[in-house]
Amino acid sequence: MNNIFEIKNLVFKYPSIQEPTIKNISFSIKEGKIFGLLGPSGAGKSTTQKILTKLLTGYSGEILYLGRNLLEYGKPFYENIGVGFEMPVHFNKLTALENLTYFAGLYKKQIDYEKMLSVVGLFDARNQMVGEYSKGMKVRLNFVRAMINDPDILFLDEPTNGLDPKNAKVIKDLILDFKRQGKTVVITTHLMGDVEQLCDEVVFMTNGTLSEIATPREWKIKYGKKEVAVEYANADDLRKKVYPLDNLGNNPEFLEDIKHPMETIHSGETSLEDIFIRVTGDHDE
Ligand SMILES: Nc1ncnc2c1ncn2[C@@H]1O[C@H](COP(=O)(O)OP(=O)(O)OP(=O)(O)O)[C@@H](O)[C@H]1O
Ligand SMILES: [Mg+2]
Repeated sequence: MNNIFEIKNLVFKYPSIQEPTIKNISFSIKEGKIFGLLGPSGAGKSTTQKILTKLLTGYSGEILYLGRNLLEYGKPFYENIGVGFEMPVHFNKLTALENLTYFAGLYKKQIDYEKMLSVVGLFDARNQMVGEYSKGMKVRLNFVRAMINDPDILFLDEPTNGLDPKNAKVIKDLILDFKRQGKTVVITTHLMGDVEQLCDEVVFMTNGTLSEIATPREWKIKYGKKEVAVEYANADDLRKKVYPLDNLGNNPEFLEDIKHPMETIHSGETSLEDIFIRVTGDHDE
């Protein structure tokens, strides 16, 4: 598996702030995977995405894109990437179609964006001024805009924020389709359900520093309680018991209890929400 990005000792400071916002982080992003950059508000996630998309320079450390220093890339880099900004930016006085036609004109390659508008449910509103769009419509248009140049790598900053569950699913399915083509996604989200459904690897950022990288499953195993909770009916009673997962198959009490009519049985899996809170601690700003 190739690394599409290799980031080494990245430090970044906004000129107006004393302390660096990104504090010496090193990590890699694998090609063809969905990489989740998570963490509390103000941790530096959007800043990191802006550095990787060359919107912010003036950092120290090294960023390699496909093995070559990111700073050496000119325009071709922008042909390869698609960026969905945290705050949708559109020309409000233009229609959705006019917006997309304008942005498509900036690139050599283009997708069939009228078709994509239809997939995200905006085709009927394609000739409506974007200033009149609802929040969710703007978010969906923002996604189409990120895809407009048929990129190899997509940077998405909270792509389903403000979407209803049906529209969020459409966007998530498009993200998974994109990955199925062997392409890479770097995603930031506060929605742990999205992380479960989308991310191959997850890293937590806290106050400009990073945790280790692991799959959602690995995070859960690491922080999961190694136990099983069982609810069973015993006469008129509902009994609840918890057993250690280790050597469960030889635990006589467990083996006896599960002969009763079972109501529920759950492994002590920790949710990603719990893990988020434990890993990032009380650094929220
Ligand atoms: N243009 C800027 N100038 C100065 N400071 C900035 C600028 N943009 C962001 N910051 C600061 O950098 C820190 C990290 O911001 P960033 O937007 O990267 O956080 P984030 O992790 O994306 O948070 P959120 O989850 O709220 O989007 C914050 O303290 C923020 O105030
Ligand atoms: Mg952000």
